[in-house]
Amino acid sequence: MASKRSHYECQQCGYQAPRWLGRCPDCGIWGSLTEVPVPAGSLSGAPGRSLSRTGKAPHATPVPLTEVVGVEHRRLRTGISELDRILGGGLVPGAMVLVGGDPGIGKSTLLLQAAGALARQGLSVLYVSGEESLAQVSERGHRLSSDVPTLYLAAETSLESILDHIDSLKPSAVVVDSIQTTWSDALESSAGSVSQVREVAGRLLEVAKSQEVSVWLIGHVTKEGSLAGPRALEHIVDTVVYFEGDRDHAYRILRATKNRFGPTDEVGVFEMRSGGLVPVENPSALFLAERPRDTPGSVVVATVEGTRPILVEVQALVTPTGAAMPRRVANGLDSQRVAMLLAVVEKRLRVGLGASDVFLNVAGGLAVREPGADLGVVAAVVSSVRNAPVEATWAFFGEVGLGGEVRRVAHTDQRLHELARLGFTRAFMAPAGAVPLPASAAIPTRSLLHVGELAELLAPMGKCGLTDD
Ligand code: TYD
Ligand code: MG
Repeated sequence: MASKRSHYECQQCGYQAPRWLGRCPDCGIWGSLTEVPVPAGSLSGAPGRSLSRTGKAPHATPVPLTEVVGVEHRRLRTGISELDRILGGGLVPGAMVLVGGDPGIGKSTLLLQAAGALARQGLSVLYVSGEESLAQVSERGHRLSSDVPTLYLAAETSLESILDHIDSLKPSAVVVDSIQTTWSDALESSAGSVSQVREVAGRLLEVAKSQEVSVWLIGHVTKEGSLAGPRALEHIVDTVVYFEGDRDHAYRILRATKNRFGPTDEVGVFEMRSGGLVPVENPSALFLAERPRDTPGSVVVATVEGTRPILVEVQALVTPTGAAMPRRVANGLDSQRVAMLLAVVEKRLRVGLGASDVFLNVAGGLAVREPGADLGVVAAVVSSVRNAPVEATWAFFGEVGLGGEVRRVAHTDQRLHELARLGFTRAFMAPAGAVPLPASAAIPTRSLLHVGELAELLAPMGKCGLTDD
């Protein structure tokens, strides 16, 4: 490939082809291949294995296992509790973290805060911005109280200059804002192309590993919802963290989707305030704060994100449709899963939804991906259909199968504790089965074998006689 004058490269997944194709055979996206010039001897196509600037391949001497210091002892705590949590306890020296999210969601803000927090511990930190001027970054730094002498700023887009800065400064951590604006003069393609993104990440990774510098890469998400060249990058970096949530709301959720140094799917919750992002240590209270009372279709679900129980409000609105194709809109829930649950409602509860629009929403902007929310989703739909509000102090969790059966989900204990902590009085869940409920279950529970039982539970206006199990 290196001997050719140019080739074609998919701007989504990095697939390379010798000639133009209308559709990428790898990721299936139309019109994503663009021509990329390839200079002789280019490093393109060898992510993470490019040569160092001295022209030699990097090497290290093998070390006895017993002499390797474990990462746990060396983690750099940022002191921003929610950030340290999703990293698995802090930043690992030499680790490369990719932070993705929509433009304007708060990536630069968070990393400038984290850089300031690390610098305040006496570590030298380099923050490279290719998007804003030095004056803009420093003004923001002042507002975020990140003005610390060991935090160095550079407005730079050239990879080679950034590497020189790292050489002379020898920082403990580097933030590159953003991967899409940084380019290497080893390649002719423009900044932000897949080959540039991969080259920049690969060369920085080499420095991260050889000099034990922690590198943060900021990456914008494209309209399609993926980072430019995401597949090319996600396997290179150690940790991938995405910002979720709506720019128009104050809450931001940070989720680790990959982590070589900690658990995945761990979430951190922040609130965007005038002084920057503030960790939210009690997200359940936050997500339930604006919950309406006595409103049909509003149900509290005890979900678990990573290892952390979080209570959220699932809202359903089922309305008659005038359209030939009824609408199915699900915010914060997997639409395939929702389609399945609506089919279960139609078949097992004999509720016709064919002439209804169904809107589902997880309040607060959290995306719930675990099956434990199933029962709550069904309950919200039934509550809306029957116009029957659910008791404000009831909560639901459990997986729903195609037969309408309710199944146990993991972390029952944590979910019940969280419900008790927030003053809930009853949890609806799957039967204990062979696994007895922990004795510590702090609130009364009610087992549901089948979603059909929701029909009697949610009689119109919620009037039903209910006794403890
Ligand atoms: P930013 O970090 O620039 O987003 P990104 O780097 O992901 O594009 O965040 C920008 C938004 O955050 C902007 O709309 C202003 C808002 N903001 C605050 O509300 N408070 C603050 O202290 C800061 C720095 C930004
Ligand atoms: Mg930014």
